[in-house]
Amino acid sequence: MLRSHTCGELRPEHINQEVTLCGWVQRVRDKGGMLWIDLRDRYGITQLLFEDNPASKELLEKARNLGREFVVAATGTVIERFSKNDKIATGDIEVRVSELTILNPAKLPPFLIEDETDGGEDLRMKYRYLDLRRGAVRKNLELRHQVARHTRSYLDDLNFIEVETPVLIKSTPEGARDFVVPSRMNPGEFYALPQSPQTFKQLLMVSGFDRYYQIVKCFRDEDLRADRQPEFTQIDCEMSFVTQEDVLNTFEGLIRNLFLKVKNIDIPEVPRMTYADAMRRYGSDKPDIRFGMEFVELKGEDTDLTSGKNFGVFDSAEVVVGINASGCASYTRKQLDELTEWVKRPQIGAKGLIYVRYNEDGTLKSSVDKFYDEASLKQWAEAFDAKPGDLMLIISGEADKARKQLNELRLEMGTRLGLRSADEYRVLWVLDFPLLEYGEDEATPGSGRWYAMHHPFTSPKPEDIPLLGSNLGKVRANAYDMVINGVEVGGGSVRIFQKELQQKMFEILGFTPVEAQEQFGFLMNAFEFGAPPHAGIAFGFDRLCSLFGGADSIRDFIAFPKNNSGRDVMIDSPSTIADLQLKELSIRVAKS
Ligand code: AMO
Repeated sequence: MLRSHTCGELRPEHINQEVTLCGWVQRVRDKGGMLWIDLRDRYGITQLLFEDNPASKELLEKARNLGREFVVAATGTVIERFSKNDKIATGDIEVRVSELTILNPAKLPPFLIEDETDGGEDLRMKYRYLDLRRGAVRKNLELRHQVARHTRSYLDDLNFIEVETPVLIKSTPEGARDFVVPSRMNPGEFYALPQSPQTFKQLLMVSGFDRYYQIVKCFRDEDLRADRQPEFTQIDCEMSFVTQEDVLNTFEGLIRNLFLKVKNIDIPEVPRMTYADAMRRYGSDKPDIRFGMEFVELKGEDTDLTSGKNFGVFDSAEVVVGINASGCASYTRKQLDELTEWVKRPQIGAKGLIYVRYNEDGTLKSSVDKFYDEASLKQWAEAFDAKPGDLMLIISGEADKARKQLNELRLEMGTRLGLRSADEYRVLWVLDFPLLEYGEDEATPGSGRWYAMHHPFTSPKPEDIPLLGSNLGKVRANAYDMVINGVEVGGGSVRIFQKELQQKMFEILGFTPVEAQEQFGFLMNAFEFGAPPHAGIAFGFDRLCSLFGGADSIRDFIAFPKNNSGRDVMIDSPSTIADLQLKELSIRVAKS
């Protein structure tokens, strides 16, 4: 080894020892008679001391010529530091250097490689290998490693085995868009990169593997957001001979174990909520339950406290629904106008926002005073369980849209009121998702069809199977999501394992029997050779890591991520390829 210790290791007990450290020069401080260098490696920073005395003039000169990020080896004696630095673990000592070797000089880096950097996002992405030298980013990858290590250990203890599934697979409809790879040996044909190993893990159950997991790369060609990357990692799991309850318990155990081992947080038993409840109470299938502010309906299926007062907007609305922003009655007119503009932005799309202030003196003041008298407003306040000092914010319209808009407003108010702290974790299971959802048929724009809400292999609830013939929208699935702080971190389901039911499902999704056989014949045929009942789940590994790290974006928890246009700006990919390569792949590119 070129070094005796790392830059994070030395403590007062090493004083008087001769050591050799290797690392990168983070900073040089030259006081004339003395010179200090902060030497950095993966483990920390150690201060090196160079003194001006007749014996070490040459050494001092050499140190003086070091630039930022030079790679050096320094040998010297550990001494007690005169002015201690309690911000770093090695802050009690320094190394008085007697020998310095420049292992490699470095060009001036394009940004400061320190926790507080002057480099913008684009520059740091271009020089990602330099950004990764910064402690803050490195810590994220260390955390990622810990999450992976404890995941493997927990699942290994429960007899799960890790099996690798192929990366060059077959493009199938359903789900997101595939990334495809042309096959040279089969001109005109393409592989697809897996969006998840879903069908392979089911086949492994048919093979009798019983308990499978894989920390695996998945690829989806979809629009990117802070919590989405085109290639991301799942903790993908499947079990045989289990019920939904067994899967929930096993993986609730995994997540609680990870919180304990990685964050030292003891998460209580994970509460459960049905999809229908989540939508009614929060307008979202991934509610952030760190705070309350639950929806209150003034007009809906079971209640109507608004009609008959000549307020056309509410009279024509399917629902009138609101939240109680506790303690916000003091919002000024300007603040309320700003909030109204906020919900009217195209991203939210509300037509307007109605408010009722419950003043400290007990009076009620609303933006619809013209239509609703004090007695009506009192009724509303009761429905909202409001107290003096509270502010009720109300949205109306078509049920799904109004709830979605109010969900956005609720989250925004939660953020503004400081109710969404990154250090607080609230885990939730959302259960009983609908099996199907109706949407526009991408193949025939203008017409609609049914889509699987989770994926086509998800089993309907046995008691809802009769509805498959009559009321598709009402069929519930044995499907579940795990949500942490409003982020969907995982999802799974009990699977269909009978060929006939699987065929029926494809029929509902608009496949002809021939198409279903062509696309998914391998799975349906396998079901005829003794498929066990099975169920599983996959967690978004990057999302879990970013939550543990208290960040919104998964990018900083991925060593070499893509930017928002799906580009790796460091290696400049995607890129064009040579004509010869195209020819070999039998691909003709239309010249523009
Ligand atoms: P699903 O599509 O819900 O299920 O994906 C599982 C989890 O993966 C994460 N995730 C993503 N993370 C980062 N970037 C993305 N683009 C991205 N897309 C999804 C989410 C999500 O909850 N095969 C099924 C699982 C199963 O049924 O067992 C599946 O892939 O956290």
